[in-house]
Amino acid sequence: MLETASKEIDETRQGEAIERYSKGASSNGRKVYIESYGCQMNFSDSEIVASILEKEGYETTKLMQDADIVFVNTCSIREKAEQTVRKRLSSFHKVKEEKPGMIIGVLGCMAERMKSKLLDEEKLVDIVVGPDAYRDLPQLVNQVDGGRKAVNVILSKEETYGDISPVRLGGNGVTSFVSITRGCDNMCTFCVVPFTRGRERSRDPKTIVNEVRELSANGYKEVTLLGQNVDSYLWYGGGPKKEFEKLSEEEKAQSVNFAQLMEMVAQVDPNVRVRFSTSHPKDMTDDVLHVMAKYDNICNYIHLPFQSGNSRVLEMMNRGYSREWYLDRVNAIRRIIPDCAISADVIAGFCSETEEEHQDTLSLMEEVKYHFSYMFKYSERPNTLAQRKFEDDVPEEVKQRRLSEIIALQQEHSFEQLKKDIGKTYKVLVEGVSKKSDKELYGRNTHNSVVVFPRGNYKAGDYVDVKINDCTSATLLGEAVA
Ligand code: 5AD
Ligand code: SF4
Repeated sequence: MLETASKEIDETRQGEAIERYSKGASSNGRKVYIESYGCQMNFSDSEIVASILEKEGYETTKLMQDADIVFVNTCSIREKAEQTVRKRLSSFHKVKEEKPGMIIGVLGCMAERMKSKLLDEEKLVDIVVGPDAYRDLPQLVNQVDGGRKAVNVILSKEETYGDISPVRLGGNGVTSFVSITRGCDNMCTFCVVPFTRGRERSRDPKTIVNEVRELSANGYKEVTLLGQNVDSYLWYGGGPKKEFEKLSEEEKAQSVNFAQLMEMVAQVDPNVRVRFSTSHPKDMTDDVLHVMAKYDNICNYIHLPFQSGNSRVLEMMNRGYSREWYLDRVNAIRRIIPDCAISADVIAGFCSETEEEHQDTLSLMEEVKYHFSYMFKYSERPNTLAQRKFEDDVPEEVKQRRLSEIIALQQEHSFEQLKKDIGKTYKVLVEGVSKKSDKELYGRNTHNSVVVFPRGNYKAGDYVDVKINDCTSATLLGEAVA
């Protein structure tokens, strides 16, 4: 399978059992198994859920069969993601038939989108909890123990879980996610996220810096700051987000924007690398790029979704920028950080997209030459603006053909970009032993490209200078140099 088409696949593959690396708490004798689907934010949220439950004495297990409670943290972004979750719920239900006391809960975006309909329609589920209600989980489990079904899908304008130190689940002990905003205010017409994750709010920078300090003290070497749109991060002392111009003088004085936050995080420990995701072309400022250029430990890599290369389609998507604006942002990246890798998200076959407009997507890809892309067919989502206003009129086979063309072109570009690295030496942060051979390690360079090299005496968490000798279309191959 093409690596460049892997996000859809990740949605299923990543739902593997997760392991706990936390300190023990006094146990209440009940075990919880959490399976996560979808974006990085969901994986990060599952760590918050584990932390909330651990405080109440629950233990997490990586074996579903051992669990008293099974939670599925779900994704609604495309129809296929929801189908995967439905299949999993059915298979859990079969286990429950053998083990009647087992509780099954749905967390996250699908819980928020479907609400109590999940209890009525699926009949496979005991608990339904939206992304802003995780603090209520212990109480909801008690409710189910008392013989009732339990639902909390209330969205909050304030909840950031800022004070909660996540239990690191299933990770490599080297890289970690740190969420900096929740929700999204952008209302892209194709997207369900503003409905499932609610209004955008920024997390107190003090709690973010503390979490990064804690990770550094525990031996972590890389943090990825997470938000649906990191560039609109704005802290001014609490409450839901406001535009900077609308702040009082006092609020302005104590405000922290994304560029400032990134600088604070980069200063925590020069040995801890900083990444972030996702950037929004309409909000990404030159200030952010200058901070990236200033700090060696901020990686030269930006995930900058474009969605479409055509301005009319972008307008219909309500993305807030044109093709020209997007290319101007790419030029700013090239000017300020000449050696910066860029990756993207793109959607094939959005409502009314013509063949010429699809060609504009391909030509934008030619102009930018992304290192990597996540590529999708448009999938109509219930209650989104696009579903209400536009017809999903690009035939399935046309969507598929356009997507295949996008994937083929991206493969060429990924290969082209990686080939440029042959002969260069990169500082690689080792993440673990290569899946293909235990004689090799893998890690990532500043561009987020995977680098595989002979193991020697190195181990996960080491920074190693690796000279690149060769590459495949998705991986750099090299050897450690002194
Ligand atoms: N159909 C297809 N792709 C979508 N995305 C979001 N909503 C949809 C949809 N309805 C893609 C966008 C976004 C990424 C996370 O998922 O490209 O950037
Ligand atoms: Fe969805 Fe757009 Fe928000 Fe991204 S920026 S989460 S695509 S609404």
